[in-house]
Amino acid sequence: MNLRKFTSLSPLFRQFCVATVALAASVGVAQTNVPVIRVQADKVTAKMPPTFYGLMTEEINYSYEGGLYGELIRNRSFKADAIQEPIKPEDYDPAKFPSNTVPKFWSAVGGAKIVLDTTRPLNEALNVSLKLDVSDASRKSPAGVANGGYWGIPLKPNTKYRASFYARARQFTGPLTIALQKAAGGQVVASAKIKKLSGDWRKYEVTLATGDIAPSKDNQFVITTTSAGTAFDGQCTVWLQQVSLFPPTYKDRANGNRADLSQLLDDARPKFLRFPGGNYVEGDYFSERFDWKKTIGPIEERPGHRSCWGYWSTDGFGLPEFLGWCQDLNMEPVLAVFAGYTLKRDYIPPGSKLEPYVQEALEEIEYVTGDATTKWGAQRIKDGYREPFKLRYVEIGNEDWFDRSGSYDGRFTQFYNAIKAKYPDLKIISTVGYEHPESQRVHSITPDLVDEHYYRSEEEMEAQSFVYDKRDRSNPTKIFVGEWATRVGSPTPNMAGALGDAAWMCCMERNADIVLMHCYAPLFVNVSDLGAGRSMQWKSDLIGYDALSSYGSPSYYAQKIFSLHQGDEVLATEAQNLPTYTWIQTGRTRNGEAQPPRTNEVKSLFYSATRDIKNGQIIVKVVNRADVAQEATVEISGVNSVAGTGAAVVLKADNRDATNSIDDPQRIVPATETVTGLGTSFTRSYPRCSITILKLGAK
Ligand code: AHR
Repeated sequence: MNLRKFTSLSPLFRQFCVATVALAASVGVAQTNVPVIRVQADKVTAKMPPTFYGLMTEEINYSYEGGLYGELIRNRSFKADAIQEPIKPEDYDPAKFPSNTVPKFWSAVGGAKIVLDTTRPLNEALNVSLKLDVSDASRKSPAGVANGGYWGIPLKPNTKYRASFYARARQFTGPLTIALQKAAGGQVVASAKIKKLSGDWRKYEVTLATGDIAPSKDNQFVITTTSAGTAFDGQCTVWLQQVSLFPPTYKDRANGNRADLSQLLDDARPKFLRFPGGNYVEGDYFSERFDWKKTIGPIEERPGHRSCWGYWSTDGFGLPEFLGWCQDLNMEPVLAVFAGYTLKRDYIPPGSKLEPYVQEALEEIEYVTGDATTKWGAQRIKDGYREPFKLRYVEIGNEDWFDRSGSYDGRFTQFYNAIKAKYPDLKIISTVGYEHPESQRVHSITPDLVDEHYYRSEEEMEAQSFVYDKRDRSNPTKIFVGEWATRVGSPTPNMAGALGDAAWMCCMERNADIVLMHCYAPLFVNVSDLGAGRSMQWKSDLIGYDALSSYGSPSYYAQKIFSLHQGDEVLATEAQNLPTYTWIQTGRTRNGEAQPPRTNEVKSLFYSATRDIKNGQIIVKVVNRADVAQEATVEISGVNSVAGTGAAVVLKADNRDATNSIDDPQRIVPATETVTGLGTSFTRSYPRCSITILKLGAK
């Protein structure tokens, strides 16, 4: 049957046909009018951009704190209860605290009493501490304080953990026992002692070493004493601040990252990191924006801030740590700067009032790229990063199409002119792409790139998977797809998500002459507590984890195999007889315009082709999103021969709902197989719900 005509048939007859095609596929009967994918190996349509596949990241879903950032203590600075007023840009609010409050995520041990206290804080940035009254401590009933981490404290066998905290004491000199123990006062797994405390703020550090234990996460961190201190007529008190516990980190970086998550990312070889957001760069209010100068320097001098995703960030994972992450994974930073607009639609109009923010962005660029002779380059060196970072792209704000004041054109232009004047080689990205109405785009100046965001259903993603093939090539502005995802499956996408993603990645790859970079979003989700307002703020995230383990979704593996088989040159392709399916799109409103329900014929096979120039290998990607196997012929012209045997990397599932999870992390993973019967023309059957990467030896 000619599948192109398939959808014009009556629904009943269509059902019959689907059954027949499924039967034909399962018994290996060849389709007629087999789809043909033609690859012109002598026609290169683009050089693969060096920064094509990247990562997009922000503090959402406990991505850093409770995620990538190695810190295991939750609310280490006791500021999670801070009351910060939504302020105007010119005001500073140091954060106030409710009285008589037990700090979030901390609990008293034994007869101890704990409360937030703002008297004599460690410093102006950490302007509160935990006041611990141990007057009732005894040998039989130690008193102290416990923290359960981010949904548990992960402990592994024969591992050293670095614990540290600041403390001052009154009518108490110690000793303190620092321990890792099973939750709710269970068995102690590791412990150490601080013999003597000072009356003034001082930092204390110990190493806690586990023995031959089974890996677990139902643990807590405790600081206790058996000594009631020296008071005869009052309280014996210890004040604590910046209580920290770090496991060994990726590449042993101090204040570094969780090793398993870093490894998953590194395995996919991302080329750039877009940071620090996303919404996180903007914040709901000016007090919540990513104020980069407050995220550098010693971590105990960073005040932290509440972010738009509803929880407190200590900013221990600040600008230097983003750069460290780039260094660890050999990624290029793509820096998003705050552009004077917040999510609650407050903004600073272009002109003199915006100028301080423009200067701040210039200084931020200097922090990233400057040498020791520059003020901010020298500060970066002081923060531990000797070499300047290579920076080629700067993005002005985030999703400024939400700004209905019309100020983005002027704000963008002001940033653009100032940055280009000092850094003429930097490419400046506008956050309003061509998927938004003409009226919202930047007109006063031509952006180097525009950032387009696509969060779509599987059908939508597949329906738009030829959209860039039709884009105007005369436009000097290139495209950065800075956020995209097929949002099917929660907390992480299922196979349907991976299929939509793969169709979309084929589109971006075929059009790498205009799409210079892209990154999936969001990257991470802590799956420990999926109820509203808990560990997940956004569904369908690439990588999931709890305190102890992590896993990649099918979308992660799709991304990984595309990235590892990117190739260096895009080859011209065209196709015939591509099968379709019918998708009835429900009515909706987009960009303020009502769109009625629509019936669409959407392709169900997708493709792209590239060449690896070091070995001449031709890489053909074929995505079959159908629930049945489908045949396709690949014809390659412009080469003398294609070897009869090659390799295929295949990611597939029995059905589109199939997925990976924290309990079943490897259900859908790619497998490599040897493929025979290849040549300049060959026909293969592509399994249902599959992504195939064919590696062909060509001469
Ligand atoms: O990725 C989640 C959010 O989606 C980002 O913060 C924002 O840019 C977009 O709306």
